[in-house]
Amino acid sequence: QRNPVGKLLLFGATGDLSQRMLLPSLFNLHADGLLPEELIIIGSARGELDDGGFQEFAHHALNEYLPDERKDEEQITGFLKRLQFQPADLSDANCFQALADKVGDVSGGLCIFLSTAPSLFEPAIKGLKSVGLTGDTVRIGLEKPLGYDLASSRQINEAVFAAFPEPRTFRFDHYLGKETVQNILALRFGNSFFEPVWNARGIANVQITIAETVGLEERAGYYDGMGALRDMVQNHILQLLALIAMEPPARFDGQAVRDEKAKLFHSLRPITAEEAEHDTVIGQYTSGAMKGEVVKGYVDELGKPSDTETFVAIKAHVDNWRWQGVPFYLRTGKRMATRRSEIAIEFKPVPHSMFQSRANKNEGGRLQPNTLIIRLQPEEYVQLLVMAKEPGLDRNGVRLREVPLNLSLDAEFAGTRRRIAYERLLLDFIEGDQTLFVRRDEVEAQWAWIDAIREGWAANGMKPKKYPTGTWGPSASIALTERDDVTWQDD
Ligand code: BG6
Repeated sequence: QRNPVGKLLLFGATGDLSQRMLLPSLFNLHADGLLPEELIIIGSARGELDDGGFQEFAHHALNEYLPDERKDEEQITGFLKRLQFQPADLSDANCFQALADKVGDVSGGLCIFLSTAPSLFEPAIKGLKSVGLTGDTVRIGLEKPLGYDLASSRQINEAVFAAFPEPRTFRFDHYLGKETVQNILALRFGNSFFEPVWNARGIANVQITIAETVGLEERAGYYDGMGALRDMVQNHILQLLALIAMEPPARFDGQAVRDEKAKLFHSLRPITAEEAEHDTVIGQYTSGAMKGEVVKGYVDELGKPSDTETFVAIKAHVDNWRWQGVPFYLRTGKRMATRRSEIAIEFKPVPHSMFQSRANKNEGGRLQPNTLIIRLQPEEYVQLLVMAKEPGLDRNGVRLREVPLNLSLDAEFAGTRRRIAYERLLLDFIEGDQTLFVRRDEVEAQWAWIDAIREGWAANGMKPKKYPTGTWGPSASIALTERDDVTWQDD
């Protein structure tokens, strides 16, 4: 049941995420009439802005990052009226009283969003507690990364829990706010025909790819030392995996969905040090051509030597009845050939092909396994690749060809604006619906699995293999699937 708050306190309000995503998302919610009428948004960050200065800052961010058709000056003026500002240096315990004074009465509900470095989570929460900003009407939202390993994540979770019980804690993973990601649930649980084959009897393998073309993007301070495994696999890729592989939840609510995801994370087979060498591949991009321009390699961009991986591929397993023996191939990387987030589910081949036999070596009768492709980015579509007869009168038998059954979400819902993932999440945060937020047991199970992989790399002295910008990663990642006779979809 939804329970909207009257105030939102946004830490990190002048940061990059705020400018590119949070302020435009809040504006869109405002413009669509979805924010509570009375909602006040108090930005906070280091620096000396006042209310007017922050409104100017936000105006600039909206001009920069909203598409032209959304720039309605009247709407923008209305939105800016909601904005206030209170400077704060979260590492300074003395800043909190002024914050509490600015926020004032919280009986109408307050959401506090920490879009800051995780090292500030603990001092922030202590400070908020010291001035009474953690009571029953207050919710806390946390932006990733939630630590850099299981121990640090536990420490953050403990500190948060000391002030905010789990039902008032909202851990953001923006992938869960993407329409197409929620569409995985609609496909799986809104249709009857997938479920009977959605298991090891029907599915041969699952591939999850998040390929990016961007490089470091001036985030060296955060990214170097963090790497692709912790930046992308620990959260986004594992969440996608859970939505694909979890058991059907009884209800679409925070408890039922997250119970199933947590169970799934606990069923991930830990990757041992021995397996890490065989079942994982790490890479780091070197210079190469990107959209016709030569771009620097990672180390040059960074300006110092580094063993941080910008690419990772993993062969994972889920140890339960449904998925026994089905490999889940996961990969993500920066500076890859193209930007693409996609899940490909390859079904088992037909048990016998009548179109091609020893006696009838009809090349046109070769069957490809059915594959379901869920494309999340940049386009949004679902495709089921099926075999169909090629039209024609071939004397050597029927010629078959793989053709897509196509559901283009872009075309089907053409009149509907594509929302920023944070719109969904900020709205749910403000209204108190936890379904699309990550629960503590999930995040800790995710980290436990990731930590084992990193320990394996350390034990084996594994270093990233170089791959040129604009490619699909080190060749070892191709070998990772090919030795199982599986080809990455669409390379
Ligand atoms: C973030 C990562 O969580 O997700 C970034 O920190 C990455 O490194 C980004 O670029 C990708 O998000 P999206 O929505 O562009 O796929």
